[in-house]
Amino acid sequence: MKIVLGITGSTGVIYGIRMLEILKKLNIETHLIMSEWGEKCISMETEYTSDYVKSLATHTSDEKNMAASVSSGTHRIDGMIVAPCSMKTLSAIANGYDDTLVSRAASVTIKESRKLVLMVRETPLSAIHLENMLKLSRIGVVILPPVTEFYTKPKSIDDIVNHGVGKCLDQFGIEHNLYPRWGTF
Ligand SMILES: Cc1cc2nc3c(=O)[nH]c(=O)nc-3n(C[C@H](O)[C@H](O)[C@H](O)COP(=O)(O)O)c2cc1C
Repeated sequence: MKIVLGITGSTGVIYGIRMLEILKKLNIETHLIMSEWGEKCISMETEYTSDYVKSLATHTSDEKNMAASVSSGTHRIDGMIVAPCSMKTLSAIANGYDDTLVSRAASVTIKESRKLVLMVRETPLSAIHLENMLKLSRIGVVILPPVTEFYTKPKSIDDIVNHGVGKCLDQFGIEHNLYPRWGTF
């Protein structure tokens, strides 16, 4: 399996970082694209460096590199995750405005009928945000905001992040035990 992972400039970049850590552990090939503001958010809200995050991925491409392999549908991938996905990148994807490699790779994922999961993050959500999400949901894109659940009684931020990452991996049928499933506790 090969997954493209976009990390964009929204709060919650830890979701993208944890996703890479887990996918690496599971020996799943990843292709990482971080937006400029995704990288800035990593330095603003985590202890991690961009180099550490890049070291977790199998391949990394610059968001300005439209000649990267994942810019073309001929390059075979199984799907793409954007975690977290800013409202700007959501808008670009919803409107086919492929100005960065994140939105281009997402656009390619859609046109090739592959799985695209967006961990969209903003609050509150405006009608523009909701319309962009609805537009994409109607064509099969999975809108998966990192919304906390409390029925598993999370004890730490790690528990909360793992739950969001686990829900995302469920979309690809990837086995994990990142959160306890209802009916098992
Ligand atoms: C610390 C920080 C947190 C942000 N959080 C959000 C957010 O939760 N959602 C969002 O849509 N934009 C957020 N932004 C604004 C985006 O970074 C900005 O719109 C940027 O242009 C997104 O570009 P990108 O999608 O190419 O990364 C945040 C910016 C900063 C500096």
